Amino acid sequence: MTGPTRNAKPHPQPVRREHWSGRLAFVLAATGSAVGLGNIWKFPYITGVNGGGWFVLIYLICVATVALPIMVAEIMLGRATQRSPVLAFRKLAGPRSPWQGIGWLGVAAAFVILSYYSVVAGWTLHYSWLALSQGFAGMQPAEVEALFGQVYADPGINLFWHGLFMLLTIAIVAAGVNAGVERWSRILMPLLFLMILALVLRAAGTDGFGPALDFVFGAHSDRLTPAGVLEALGHSFFTLSLGMGAMLTYGSYLRARDDVVTTSLAVGGLDTLISLMACMMIFPIIFVAGLTPAAGPGLVFVSLPIAFGQLPGGALWAAVFFVLLAVAALTSAISLLEVAVSHAIDWRGVSRRRAAIGIGAVIFVLGIPSALSGGTPLFGSDFAAATEALFGEGHGKNWFDLADYLASNWMLPLGGLGIAVFVAWRMGEHAREQAFRAGSRFARLYWGWVWLLRYIVPVGVVAVFLHALGII
Ligand code: PFF
Repeated sequence: MTGPTRNAKPHPQPVRREHWSGRLAFVLAATGSAVGLGNIWKFPYITGVNGGGWFVLIYLICVATVALPIMVAEIMLGRATQRSPVLAFRKLAGPRSPWQGIGWLGVAAAFVILSYYSVVAGWTLHYSWLALSQGFAGMQPAEVEALFGQVYADPGINLFWHGLFMLLTIAIVAAGVNAGVERWSRILMPLLFLMILALVLRAAGTDGFGPALDFVFGAHSDRLTPAGVLEALGHSFFTLSLGMGAMLTYGSYLRARDDVVTTSLAVGGLDTLISLMACMMIFPIIFVAGLTPAAGPGLVFVSLPIAFGQLPGGALWAAVFFVLLAVAALTSAISLLEVAVSHAIDWRGVSRRRAAIGIGAVIFVLGIPSALSGGTPLFGSDFAAATEALFGEGHGKNWFDLADYLASNWMLPLGGLGIAVFVAWRMGEHAREQAFRAGSRFARLYWGWVWLLRYIVPVGVVAVFLHALGII
């Protein structure tokens, strides 16, 4: 991959573009991108840490007022230009325009996010295998906790599963938009939905279901802080795969007549539904086992196996849960790799196969420090001490934390802000309106959407930045 050097020019002959076979294919693939570790691992634990209730309500407001308008803008830019992120901005803003930087930022974010996402996805594969081969039944809570510590610190385990997960992702992306991404979304997304439904029904049969409903939907505000509100906003970007051109790239495989607004509402609605279902399958089991919902990142890898261990038939359910998590991670990883691969194809005319293998290999290597973060001192404690010196006390981050912090707190919100500002302030009125209204059953929402992009999105994103800088 090369950067934007002075002589770099996009490949003169645009490669013929593949298209989704229909609107359903797009909705399944885009929902596959959106639904991932963010929904099933992160959303329940940040909901737990922030005390449920009001946090969930604020999150829903952020999705409706900030994230969804950006999603419509991204998919629309992709559909209108039929290009990957950098070339989409080049086509609309001109070959020397700095707006292309938003596209480059997105491609960079794909490398950064996939490099550590694949490591966590690797843990889900390892846990699936553990659940299937030996189960967590009979393990004492302290043993389960120690197990996670061991997995986190073991370089061999981390590298093996990270590598295997990247191989799966590469194989699917290399097969193409129709034969790879679409085909596997059609198989994996219904499977994912069935597994999550089965787990929610299982949880609904326990005594913890009532308390869990109250925790998630009751009017609790006792643990909510301003930082929690901004966390909800930041998470809405990550969970909907916004701000880095993933939705733009998937949108570029739509045809002009496909409705952007309806599909965005479908993707946003399904993603939210699955996040809430994730809470409704995890919290009842946690409550029945008498554990805390505020366990943080270990909720899924420590508390849940302990809780499953105490449930009749728990070994099987634990296996279903971790396979579900792995499937969700895979369909998201596919979209991350697709951003960079689609860029390489459009920019240089590289073949899809070569791009997928080459870029996938680079991301595997970039992920090695994250895979070693828990084990080897250089990328664990030494590195953490160095970043503490850089960022100040309490900000010690290992490589893994740093990649997540940079991507979630800076790259995605910055990209989302750039896309909103471009569409709302820079794009010509006529072009914007046409692009929005084409094929849309919701054409009357146009002015409301522009207004949200112009005013609400920038204020929200700037608040996230000011908070990250410690100013508010
Ligand atoms: N939306 C995914 C999740 O919630 O796990 C993560 C993600 C995928 C972020 C693709 C960004 C992206 F482009």
